[in-house]
Amino acid sequence: MKHFTSVILFLIVASIGATVDAIVTGTYFDRIVLVMFENTGYTQAIAQPYLQNLTSRSNGLLLSNYHAVAHPSQPNYIATIFGSTAGITDDNNHNVSGNNVVDLLETKGVSWKAYMENYPGNCYIGATAPSGQHLYARKHNPFISMNDIRTNPTRCAKIVPGTQLDTDINANAVPQFVYYVPNQNNDGHDTGVAFAMNWFQGWLEPKLTKPAFTTNTLIFIVFDEDDGSQGNHIFAGLLGSPVHPPSNHNDTTSYNHYSYLATVEKNWNLGNLGRNDVSATAFTKYLIHP
Ligand SMILES: *[C@@H]1O[C@H](CO)[C@@H](O)[C@H](O)[C@H]1NC(C)=O
Ligand SMILES: *[C@@H]1O[C@H](CO)[C@@H](O)[C@H](O)[C@H]1NC(C)=O
Ligand SMILES: *[C@@H]1O[C@H](CO)[C@@H](O)[C@H](O)[C@H]1NC(C)=O
Repeated sequence: MKHFTSVILFLIVASIGATVDAIVTGTYFDRIVLVMFENTGYTQAIAQPYLQNLTSRSNGLLLSNYHAVAHPSQPNYIATIFGSTAGITDDNNHNVSGNNVVDLLETKGVSWKAYMENYPGNCYIGATAPSGQHLYARKHNPFISMNDIRTNPTRCAKIVPGTQLDTDINANAVPQFVYYVPNQNNDGHDTGVAFAMNWFQGWLEPKLTKPAFTTNTLIFIVFDEDDGSQGNHIFAGLLGSPVHPPSNHNDTTSYNHYSYLATVEKNWNLGNLGRNDVSATAFTKYLIHP
C-alpha cells in the first residue's frame, strides 16, 4: 500500500512537471505576439495595403497616435522590455543591469521566448550574424543585452532562431509572451517597408489559421522608429480575437513603446519595473478577453 501510494504520488508529481507551460489567464488576452519592423515613418507605413487590410479586419485596430522613444534603433528595442533606454544612444553592444520584463513574467509563471531570425543560438553575443551577411543584428535583440538573461543559461536558451516559432506552433507549445524580430531584410531595414510587408503577409497568414498561435492571442505590429522626419510617429496596430474595435478601427490615444510594456504588465497583473512603464498608457481600451 505504501509503495502503491508513492507510485501514485510520483505519477502526480511527474504530470505536474510535464505541464511546464500551464496557461496563466490574462485580463485581456492569454498570449501577446509582438512583431517589430524597422525605420519607417507613419505616413509610409499607413500607405501599405497589407497594414490597411489588417487594421480594417473585424478584429483589427490602428493605434494612430503611437510614437517611438529614441533614435537610433537599439534604445527603442531596449525600451520595450526595460522601461527606459538605459542611457543607450547608439547601436553598439551594451550590457544592461536591472530588472526587465522577463523578471516580471517569470515571477507570475508566464512563459516567454524571444524569436530572432538568423540568430545563431547558444547565447551568441556577437553584434551580427552570419558573418558577412548581418541578417541577425544584436541591436535588434534587447534580450541578449540584459545581464540577468545573458548570464543565466536557462533564460538565455529562450532566445531562439525565428524558425523555432513554427516548430512551437506545430507542437502546440507557443509561449504566452512572444517577441518576434525578423531579420534585416524581412524587417525592412535593408530593403524598405514594401518588401517587409510582402514578407509579413507570407509569414502571418498561414499562422492565422493555427489555433495554437491564435487562441486568445493579441498580435501587436509595430516599427522601432520613424525615418527621422515625422517626430518619431510610427505605425502600430493590433489584431486578434481580444480586439473589439470601434467602427472606424482607429484608436487615437497617445501611446509609445512603454505602452507595450504597460499592456503586458496590466494584462497579467505583473506589477511594474518602476521606470517609464509606470506612467505609460496601456493599449487596452478596445480589448476584451475572448
Ligand atoms: C484583406 O485581404 C483579404 C485577402 O485579399 C481579403 O479577403 C479581405 O477582404 C481583406 N480585408 C479587408 C478588411 O480589407
Ligand atoms: C558583456 O558581458 C559579456 C559577458 O557576459 C562580455 O563577454 C562582454 O564583453 C560584455 N560586453 C560589454 C559591451 O561590456
Ligand atoms: C484616425 O483618427 C485621427 C484623428 O481623428 C485622424 O487624424 C486619422 O486620419 C485617422 N486615421 C485613419 C487611418 O482613419
